[in-house]
Amino acid sequence: MLLTLPRWFDLHTHFRQGPAMASYVQAHLDMGCAGALAMPNTQPPVARVSGAAEADGWSIESYAAELRAAGGEAFEQLIVPLYLTRQTTEAMIHEGATSGLLRACKYYPPHGTTNAEHGLPMDDLIGGDVFRAMEEHRIVLCIHGEQHGLSGSDYLDAQQNAETRFYRERMPRLVAAHPNLRIVCEHITTRVAAEFVAGAPEPIGATITPQHLLYTLGHLIQGLKYHLYCLPIVKFQDDRAALRQAVTTLGQTKFFAGTDSAPHTTKATACGCAAGCFTGGCAPQLYAMAFEKAGVDLGTTDGQTLLERFLCLNGPAFYDFPASTRCFQMEKARSQFAALETPAGPVPPLPTGMGLDLTWRIVP
Ligand code: DOR
Ligand code: ZN
Repeated sequence: MLLTLPRWFDLHTHFRQGPAMASYVQAHLDMGCAGALAMPNTQPPVARVSGAAEADGWSIESYAAELRAAGGEAFEQLIVPLYLTRQTTEAMIHEGATSGLLRACKYYPPHGTTNAEHGLPMDDLIGGDVFRAMEEHRIVLCIHGEQHGLSGSDYLDAQQNAETRFYRERMPRLVAAHPNLRIVCEHITTRVAAEFVAGAPEPIGATITPQHLLYTLGHLIQGLKYHLYCLPIVKFQDDRAALRQAVTTLGQTKFFAGTDSAPHTTKATACGCAAGCFTGGCAPQLYAMAFEKAGVDLGTTDGQTLLERFLCLNGPAFYDFPASTRCFQMEKARSQFAALETPAGPVPPLPTGMGLDLTWRIVP
């Protein structure tokens, strides 16, 4: 079986900074990726719109130039969101929208994940000038939707978790205060979030990662498979079923690919584990496998249309840029994955340790 699809877009990924960046970009190009939204939680963060990189932060302009020089020139689209910090001003939004450098802003819950220490509480932003300016200029708000600062027992239990609390408590307030704000609920993991997005008004969409469509918390815990550890953490079977249903609903326009591919050269340490699953090189294969697990027959036109919408069409439509007119191909065949060799060291991709063979292969 051979799948021919338009080149796809990864609307949430991490290319980091420094010498390994070119390896990460190349791994994306090698898997038929036509463009990316590159996350701003670099070290230092992307916290200004224009100007040269400084010790305390990149600007969108300087980080995008760095990415282009590292091979990103080959992408049809490259979006770098502005990291929302206490230094973000309404003037930056106006300036960035007018110059065209600013297309999206990223909300991180303070200390909620890797390099999220510059984030601020959502309550401090709702109703404020920054969100109002974003509404006015149609700048997309990318949200890491987890309630910050919870104790371990409130962070994750069988009834609720940081994500369900965020979508039940914070999102309705945000949408009521900013009805015209375009929002991407990123890497959603729960039924609560999936149902919130499905029922939300038009300017609200969501990305879903391959790992959240494929796995549950049980897979992570059974053998403590740390390559599957990312944030928000994988959840329960009912949550996965809701995510699978969201992406396999005929004609859906709200859900699209954002891998959250997050390379870490050191994952497990003596005092914990870095959050992030690296899926450079294997993301479309994993998505195809997840669609099959969700009951989609990729040998049929209907099945292919579902995958194409999610991977190649809905994201560009949401972000207002054209889908790719070039194609890439995958064939149904077992294929190998290996650690990506980078100047910063090897980075093993997610299937490592999961006892999973890739059943699709990118046709080079
Ligand atoms: O698992 C994650 N890793 N979640 C995030 O939100 C950040 C990312 C990273 O940068 O490693
Ligand atoms: Zn991310």
